[in-house]
Amino acid sequence: MKRFVFSFVFGLLLISFTARADEGMWLPQLLNKLNENRMKSLGMKISAEDIYSINRGSLKDAVVSFGGFCTGEIISTKGLILTNHHCGFDQIQNHSSLQHNYIRDGFWAMNHAQELPNSGLFVTFIIRIDDVTTQVMNGVTKGMKESDRQALVDKNMAEVRKNAARMEGQDVFIRGFFEANQYYMFTTETYRDIRLVGAPPSSIGNFGKDTDNWVWPRHTGDFTLFRIYASKENKPAEYSKDNIPFTPKRALNVSLSGVEAGDFTMVFGFPGRTNQYLHSDVVKDIVEMSDPVKIMIRDKAMAVLDGFMRKDEMIKIQYASKYARISNAWKKWQGEVLGLTRTNGVAKKQAYEQTFQQRVNENAAWKTEYGNLLNDLSKTFAQLQPLSLARDYYTEIVSKIELYTISMQLNSLVSAFDKDGAAGYTKRLTTVVPMLEDFYKEYNAMVDQKVFEAMMPVYMEQNTAWQAPAVREAWTKANAEAGKMSPEIYNTWLNRGDEVMAFLKQSSDSVLKVLRADATIVFFKAMQSHYQSVVQTPINPVQAQMNALQRQYMQAQLEVMTDKTFYPDANSTMRVTYGQVNGYQPRNGVQYDYYTTLDGVMEKYVPGDYEFDVPEKLRQLYATKDYGPYGMNGTMPVCFIASNHTTGGNSGSPALDAYGNLIGLNFDRVWEGTMSDIYYDASICRNIMVDARYILFIIDKYAGAKHLVDEMNIVYPKKQATKKKKKKY
Ligand code: ARG
Ligand code: GLU
Repeated sequence: MKRFVFSFVFGLLLISFTARADEGMWLPQLLNKLNENRMKSLGMKISAEDIYSINRGSLKDAVVSFGGFCTGEIISTKGLILTNHHCGFDQIQNHSSLQHNYIRDGFWAMNHAQELPNSGLFVTFIIRIDDVTTQVMNGVTKGMKESDRQALVDKNMAEVRKNAARMEGQDVFIRGFFEANQYYMFTTETYRDIRLVGAPPSSIGNFGKDTDNWVWPRHTGDFTLFRIYASKENKPAEYSKDNIPFTPKRALNVSLSGVEAGDFTMVFGFPGRTNQYLHSDVVKDIVEMSDPVKIMIRDKAMAVLDGFMRKDEMIKIQYASKYARISNAWKKWQGEVLGLTRTNGVAKKQAYEQTFQQRVNENAAWKTEYGNLLNDLSKTFAQLQPLSLARDYYTEIVSKIELYTISMQLNSLVSAFDKDGAAGYTKRLTTVVPMLEDFYKEYNAMVDQKVFEAMMPVYMEQNTAWQAPAVREAWTKANAEAGKMSPEIYNTWLNRGDEVMAFLKQSSDSVLKVLRADATIVFFKAMQSHYQSVVQTPINPVQAQMNALQRQYMQAQLEVMTDKTFYPDANSTMRVTYGQVNGYQPRNGVQYDYYTTLDGVMEKYVPGDYEFDVPEKLRQLYATKDYGPYGMNGTMPVCFIASNHTTGGNSGSPALDAYGNLIGLNFDRVWEGTMSDIYYDASICRNIMVDARYILFIIDKYAGAKHLVDEMNIVYPKKQATKKKKKKY
């Protein structure tokens, strides 16, 4: 008995020692080797094989890449997909007009016939993941020239792809991991008839807008519903009214048991890009130069857009999506700078590098091979830095000027013709036409001219070599006043979409003749080609050298820092991350709780406000506490946080409980922890999820779309667990 008590207490101790948050975005097919024990010790009740299996249905079969930029999950046997409101926002916007303002009012299909098709939208399933490192690296040797190495790797990859076994309709692609030290092949299946099923009004789906974005405590119901349609044979098919709702291999159960502090959670999805293994000099540059410059430029562009959007409902609809995209990264970079500064990210990287160097120096073989790596990285980055800063300036500036984009799209027809003749022109035209058609729908020349006027001083104020002489000339002629420079450039037929689209139907000869001579296109082209020659061309070899060094540094870290468990940087491939539900201390003396409720929505409510209005129906439900089976002790849970390590692309990712049931929908990270792409600090890095109970409450009680909830398989794992326990004793 004593021994039992002792080992029990000891066991508890062990658990509390190891029960800290876990960093990392893991490959699902390696969980059984690397993570399963750890996940179980944190409370997971299923096996790695239940999460990823190629032999039987597993959780991975219910998770899709949504359009290539977000994640979605299947939550019914009729192909219903759940993702974020901000992931489906382009579609909601495209279906919106002043008459049917789905952005403002929401949208709910009451039957299949009302579900709205979305051209261009797709979802991709991962069928299997295979390690192809040996085949891809075949013949690669250590001393090889970089360009030879790349050529060989490319050739090997093409070979592996060609020989890959796959079923009809499946695709394969290969990605490098750990800075191209390892390679995995993904076999995928893509569905292209994806219809909009339901969206809450923005005052729920984007409640708190930019003020609350990236911030905890949060009260946003950031979700949208879509449905996959397939051919009669349940196979991928282009849109057709004869397509039928897709029957998935696996759909997630939805748990109404709710979450408590300490509960195990995992997030399954397609994180986009992280940089966990950078040299400290690079991190320092991000904090001191790169992020601040990008923030400053976006400040100026956003001020212009915001001014128009507040005054004009039509412009607001047109520019809502663009504005949200620009402000999202703008705000994240601010959090990143703050977080890296507060956690001494640079100093910690430097300390890590010191340990690395020490270990390398103590081992003769390592010293020969890796002894100069850090030094070389630092030297190469010193070369790269001014060029990369110029690239940041240039891309930030021109990507805000929409007339630049229009001009460059049209100019690409000229380039295609000059390169590949008539065939090149015709091929290019097939992408330019639909691109511009879409683009003009959300283009307002008056707005863009003001953005141009805000961007030009930034372009000019840096007295650097990358300014195009033609632009400098125009600037001088206009007495350094953007407002005097812009009329000439913006007084153009390129502002009129209908005219441009009709023009593109003419013969290639006449099109090319006009495009080559157009003053606006010539102006932006001068800007672009000068940048190309003084920044883009010289940056390539330096970047290649930097990449090669980073690859060696990664390999060296894997070899030398054996007390650390490494995970590959995110690269838009499928990953699993896990952690526990928990609050955190944002700063000294302040403790944040792990969940929010509808009471908090009402606390933030500002009638008629652009960001914090609350729909009347929701206020009524709150007043009558009409929460149905979704409430908990008279309150309605809204959001919660946990220590899952996520990034952009994890939007719409399912948050799963210990059994793999859906408990929430990932959509953001907390302000203090947005630096986790570069440096993860377990004490303050948290991901933010909408509680599954709130989602179902909105669908059922708010929208009256109970038929959608009826499609789902609802479970109460906690009740079942207590019942089981009771039976035992
Ligand atoms: N910050 C989240 C993400 O990176 C949410 C963005 C959408 N919400 C918003 N208010 N813009 O995507
Ligand atoms: N909102 C982000 C997205 O669109 C996810 C949040 C994050 O970056 O962690 O993917």
